[in-house]
Amino acid sequence: MMQPASPITLEVDLGDRSYPITIGHDLLSDTGLVGRHVAGKRVAVVTNTIVAPLYLERVVKSLEAAGKLVTTVILPDGEEEKNWASLMKVFDVLLAERCDRKTTLVALGGGVIGDLTGFAAASYMRGVPFIQIPTTLLSQVDSSVGGKTGINHPLGKNMIGAFYQPQAVIADTGTLNTLPARELSAGLAEVIKHGAIIDPPFFDWIDANIGRLVEKDPAALAYAIQRSCEIKADVVRQDEREGGLRAILNFGHTFGHAIESGLGYGQWLHGEAVGCGMVMAADLSQRLGFIDGATRDRIAALVKAAGLPVTAPDLGKERWLDLMEVDKKNEGGQIKFILLKPMGTSVIMPVPQDALLATLQACTRQ
Ligand code: NAD
Ligand code: GLY
Repeated sequence: MMQPASPITLEVDLGDRSYPITIGHDLLSDTGLVGRHVAGKRVAVVTNTIVAPLYLERVVKSLEAAGKLVTTVILPDGEEEKNWASLMKVFDVLLAERCDRKTTLVALGGGVIGDLTGFAAASYMRGVPFIQIPTTLLSQVDSSVGGKTGINHPLGKNMIGAFYQPQAVIADTGTLNTLPARELSAGLAEVIKHGAIIDPPFFDWIDANIGRLVEKDPAALAYAIQRSCEIKADVVRQDEREGGLRAILNFGHTFGHAIESGLGYGQWLHGEAVGCGMVMAADLSQRLGFIDGATRDRIAALVKAAGLPVTAPDLGKERWLDLMEVDKKNEGGQIKFILLKPMGTSVIMPVPQDALLATLQACTRQ
């Protein structure tokens, strides 16, 4: 891949919990970078069996060069491992290694490792510092930023967790060289989401550059990551704990989470479920008269061009409704949806049952 421009740093502005996001190519070769964000002597790097052989040695060497004492935890890979048992494995190692409350946890991997390690950091000894080193596109454009941490429950996605911000996010775009195409597409879902809910010019840019993004053009990916992080950081700055505005970042997720838990975690990738969920949310928005048919079709075409599914699995009407009732946005038993009203602007609201059933019928593989 061609070398992109020099690293850039953005700030997530949250007062005394503010932190930098550094985005650049080959950041892991900067031996001082990770260590500079570690205040104490001890570090525990949490990663998985896929990422460890690729990047763990570089991170450990750079921390040791900064004089840190490093412990490693290597978990099994997969969304289905984002659970209580994996969390306990992290605590088992931290306690066995006598890691104290000044220990910094480093999450090295995709969103699964980032969410789980963040939650471990939020709760180990009532809270220790942590750093995100996201290595998937999805985690670089979304999950490493904003402090949502947690694990899945068999009855619902991300149901156990905490808001807990990292000390820093270090996104080395060079790690995307080893990312499989299917995982890259999953990350593009969250990039498209940012354009659709908040930034129509960015949506137009993604539409015009989707071929370059799918081909891993470094300059295109760097811009998509930067703009996504800017958008997300701005939303999180305004509404860190999702009292209102932040819910728009869940566009496509009400349907998507139902697909993920309905099929069993790991069958569809999170980004695939979100991609299809956005097509369904756009269809629902169109049925309610908030966007026109051409806009709905344009969103579906872009999701498809990103390599993502646009037709949902047939879970059965009752099961769809059951699954969507277990959603953190819901209040008083009503299912809430993020809808486009119009394109580039979003609303959160319950919807009439007949429109919802029509969307399920239209978007589901029969
Ligand atoms: P993931 O963490 O499972 O990573 C995807 C796959 O890529 C895994 O097999 C992983 O081992 C592998 N991998 C990681 N980096 C690699 C690399 N550089 N080269 C090759 N393989 C690599 O999945 P994800 O898509 O990164 O994250 C999805 C998770 O993120 C979901 O659990 C979702 O709920 C969560 N999420 C959280 C937030 C948030 O705000 N906290 C936002 C969006 C998504
Ligand atoms: N991905 C949703 C959020 O961070 O709020």
